Amino acid sequence: MSAIILDGKKLASQIREDLSSKISALQGTLPPALAVVLVGDNEASKIYVRNKKKAASEIGMICEVLELSSGIGENALLEVINELNSNHHIHGIIVQLPLPPHINPLHILSAISPQKDVDGFNPYNAGLLSCREDSAIISATPKGILRLLQHSDIELSGKHAVIIGRSNIVGRPAAILMLNQDCTVTITHSKTQNLQALIKQADIVIAACGSPKLVKKDWIKPGAVVIDVGINRLEGKLCGDVDFEEVSQIASYITPVPGGVGPMTVAMLLENTFEAFQKQAQTPHPQCHCHHCNHSL
Ligand code: GUN
Repeated sequence: MSAIILDGKKLASQIREDLSSKISALQGTLPPALAVVLVGDNEASKIYVRNKKKAASEIGMICEVLELSSGIGENALLEVINELNSNHHIHGIIVQLPLPPHINPLHILSAISPQKDVDGFNPYNAGLLSCREDSAIISATPKGILRLLQHSDIELSGKHAVIIGRSNIVGRPAAILMLNQDCTVTITHSKTQNLQALIKQADIVIAACGSPKLVKKDWIKPGAVVIDVGINRLEGKLCGDVDFEEVSQIASYITPVPGGVGPMTVAMLLENTFEAFQKQAQTPHPQCHCHHCNHSL
């Protein structure tokens, strides 16, 4: 293996420690609080939510998980979101995806207050990112990828980034984020022709398509940077969308699975929540009469 490992586990742990110190240093306010809405019994979602709650608790952030039945209607779910929007003690709201098929995710994500939308999935925040507006809350996975690249001083300007996958939660925002870093961006997907030839031109490959070990050594330009967002199970073992054994022989940098992008996603969610908390703390809540709000009036 010749590639340098982009150690997301280590960097994420440093970011969480830094947040933990900042939260310990807060005086006279309630700690930052994240609300996670989990609808139904998707096993993978339950694991992701458990990890987010654990990570939040470890840094002194409140994490309230609202577990709702898969039979909940869209209007009832919108009411839950509205209550969280108007609760001054909640600073970040995420709705774990996927939602059951009878619920339109766009209706729900659009209802989250943009200031509390710490997943950055509300079309308003997605739009701000597209406009290259600094105030956008950037979704956690693309933001975590960028942070990993920047931490290793990897040059992005003018580089060709090829994204595999066009999902709203990774592929699209990752493409826009890389474009905002002055990359030349190609987005590929399941209908793309000559996929391998396009990937072979990439200086940076971001694989987010959910196909175990799809990307092979001979698809990669020697020295390319390879970011693997996939989390798949193959013969009982976790693996990414990249064939790590092979590709690490030819790439310059590579993220492992697990221990690459995954921990960075959680760290960026916590960071987004902390930043949302800081912004909201600047706004008093005169209509709230609880001890903590009165304290800051
Ligand atoms: N489902 C898969 N990834 C994510 C994520 O980052 N956030 C949410 N809310 N749901 C997801």
